[in-house]
Amino acid sequence: QLAAAVVPAAGRGERLGPGAPKALRELGGVPLLVHAVRALARSRAIGLVVVAAPAGGEAEVAALLDSHGLDGKDVRVVAGGATRQESVRLGLAAIPADVEVVLVHDAARPLVPVEVVDAVAAAVRAGAEAVVPAVPLADTVKRVEPQPAGRPEPVLDTPDRATLRAVQTPQGFRRDTLHEVHLKALAEESAPEPDALPPVTDDAGLVERYGGRVVVVPGHEEAFKVTRPLDLVLAEAVLARRRA
Ligand code: C5P
Repeated sequence: QLAAAVVPAAGRGERLGPGAPKALRELGGVPLLVHAVRALARSRAIGLVVVAAPAGGEAEVAALLDSHGLDGKDVRVVAGGATRQESVRLGLAAIPADVEVVLVHDAARPLVPVEVVDAVAAAVRAGAEAVVPAVPLADTVKRVEPQPAGRPEPVLDTPDRATLRAVQTPQGFRRDTLHEVHLKALAEESAPEPDALPPVTDDAGLVERYGGRVVVVPGHEEAFKVTRPLDLVLAEAVLARRRA
């Protein structure tokens, strides 16, 4: 039984500047989403890729993926949601019930090497319920007390950098685990006082919130997320180096 992957691709990508939804911005003449789906389709561990497209844009995204021929892998497109979390939940709902291992990969990480995809899937197969690829930090990180824009922010403390990791995708899960934490998060959202919960920005973070065990495997510097305009410049350079 092969693993399936969910690709949330419904974000606007406002930090990248004005233009098309982020997943459809081009890198080397090919949309970020196509790069990301190709990176997953290249893995022999993956049998199905489900893309959560901007709502209303499903047909356009399906045609786009079709026109790029993706290693004969099964690729399905569903409507994404208003948040990344909702897009993942909707993608997960489209995966057949007998699939036991699910990877979640940002459309915004177009250059993840296939070795990272393979390693994440293998770690779930080997028994982990949740696996994240991550890399050590180059920068020192400080916790601050956030202030309105323009005001200096008081520093609270400086965590030991050696114990920190910058987390990437694809993140891998036992399907039941991922399904369960997304249902719990959904139930809590509709409960009173949702503000009391700290924000969760990745799927593994949901597993942590509900007491699950998450492990880290080595990520890769080329699996960085394209968020700001400078990231696109870097991504173009990496792609050019690969093609050279
Ligand atoms: O905004 P950020 O870079 O964190 O987005 C990470 C991924 O989540 C992107 O692939 C983006 O398209 C996706 N996303 C989504 N639905 C949203 C918001 C973001 O699928 N409503």
